[in-house]
Amino acid sequence: MKTIAVLGGTGKEGSGLALRWARFGYEVIIGSRSAEKATRRVAELLAEIDHPSLRGGLQGMANEDAARQADHAVLTVPYSAHRATLTGLIQPLEGKILVDVTVPLQPPKVRGVHLPPGQAAALEAQEILGDAVRVVAAFQNVSAEELVDAAHEVDCDVLVCSDDGEARSFAIELAEAAGMRGIDAGGLRNAIAVESLTPVLLHINRHYRIRGSGVRITGID
Ligand SMILES: NC(=O)c1ccc[n+]([C@@H]2O[C@H](COP(=O)([O-])OP(=O)(O)OC[C@H]3O[C@@H](n4cnc5c(N)ncnc54)[C@H](OP(=O)(O)O)[C@@H]3O)[C@@H](O)[C@H]2O)c1
Repeated sequence: MKTIAVLGGTGKEGSGLALRWARFGYEVIIGSRSAEKATRRVAELLAEIDHPSLRGGLQGMANEDAARQADHAVLTVPYSAHRATLTGLIQPLEGKILVDVTVPLQPPKVRGVHLPPGQAAALEAQEILGDAVRVVAAFQNVSAEELVDAAHEVDCDVLVCSDDGEARSFAIELAEAAGMRGIDAGGLRNAIAVESLTPVLLHINRHYRIRGSGVRITGID
């Protein structure tokens, strides 16, 4: 089973995904700017669950060490930290797949679409990291509220965009490992649309007074 680094995995979205993948059987490393914070977060997560339900491993490290030791990585940091975080990880990520979960929200107006200078965070990630890293955009429409209880069944699909077929297949595998259906949603440019759906969902959550609306694709058997 592959080792996956969840960079910025101490946060709400990354922790929820990390725990689900470790339960499925992946070796997961939670990354942080602080190795101590990562280790603390792992201890908290392990205290919340039944250890026998963990088929894989869960450990914590500094982002750079996590990216270096893992086969592939997932990025879950706020958009404001996206460029700086990736700029420091170009070499450790070389030859790997990076799953970018980042949504370019512009607080406090998080319920309206904001296109960043590069049109999508995932397109910017590919530009920062260069061709030696295969970027795939996924999970941007999955609410952390839905992930927090690792035993809870998440009722949504995961749209997956990349210019690399192997990277798309890997992200679809990760979606399934976390209990969701992964959908091939085309090339990385399509991440412009997928990232833009998140502020729409945040609006829907507020308007209908719900917590974790999500996306479902119909018509696929
Ligand atoms: N929350 C959701 O429901 C949700 C749903 C879909 C997509 N997303 C997207 O997923 C990403 C993460 O969301 P989140 O809610 O998990 O975010 P978060 O909890 O606010 O932050 C995640 C982690 O990012 C790191 N971080 C924060 N500020 C940073 C900075 N200035 N520089 C470097 N690292 C920093 C922190 O890790 P350390 O302090 O340990 O380094 C933090 O624990 C965002 O882009 C968000 O839009 C979130």
